[in-house]
Amino acid sequence: MPKYFNSFISILKLHSNPESAWHNFTAILKHPLLYIRVCTHVEGLIDHYTGSLLYETVLANRSDSHNIIEVVAYKGKSTIYLSLAAFKVNKRLISFELFSGLPCSDPVLDSGFRKGQFSSDINQYIANIATYGNSSAVDLMIGDARQTLLPKIVDNGFSVAFLDVDVYEVMKELLFQLWNIAKGNEIVIIHDINSPGVRKAVDELLVIAKNRVIETHFHRNTIAKLVILPQF
Ligand SMILES: C[S@@+](CC[C@H](N)C(=O)[O-])C[C@H]1O[C@@H](n2cnc3c(N)ncnc32)[C@H](O)[C@@H]1O
Repeated sequence: MPKYFNSFISILKLHSNPESAWHNFTAILKHPLLYIRVCTHVEGLIDHYTGSLLYETVLANRSDSHNIIEVVAYKGKSTIYLSLAAFKVNKRLISFELFSGLPCSDPVLDSGFRKGQFSSDINQYIANIATYGNSSAVDLMIGDARQTLLPKIVDNGFSVAFLDVDVYEVMKELLFQLWNIAKGNEIVIIHDINSPGVRKAVDELLVIAKNRVIETHFHRNTIAKLVILPQF
């Protein structure tokens, strides 16, 4: 128990911004067991608030497609939240990852990121999902998602997608691929929306989507939720 108490205190200290600490505090109150299961064991680049948002989005989504998508996985933290929810609603999580880190970075638009950053170890990813998530609900697709995403989901579409790819070129390509197969009622959650490259990619989608994409923000404007409306 002291271990959990200490990590609970450290999450409050970790967030230099009081609003962010408060969001995580309330997420811990809502999903305490998930917090203990994931955050006290698995290293990753999302916090418990974001993980809880992913978890709740999958549980609440009513689209027909059985495919939940995440690009990308890193050491599996987002995969764990998504796989636990996917299993509960009898859907599949398709997890796309290169394991060699970011494939590119624009020096101006993506100045906070560099090529090769966030490389990770597939064995650690697999062990984390097996121990803390639900491996039986996950299909892992190794390789560049810009090539592997469409062939995997073109027939059955997707219901929820989580994009955490950090850089303009990848974000734009994936968003446009998802947009081209979307039928309506899909949800796309985007991490780091305040990064200029990610913002530019979403803005370019909004131009071609006209009024069919509704964007809302969470967590001090670091996360965007895009709801794709059906075409009438
Ligand atoms: C910020 S990390 C993801 C963090 C993760 N969601 C978590 O919960 O900790 C970004 C990841 O994007 C992956 N990535 C970037 N572009 C990719 C692409 N085109 N295809 C597959 N993986 C990609 C990198 O390998 C890296 O692991």
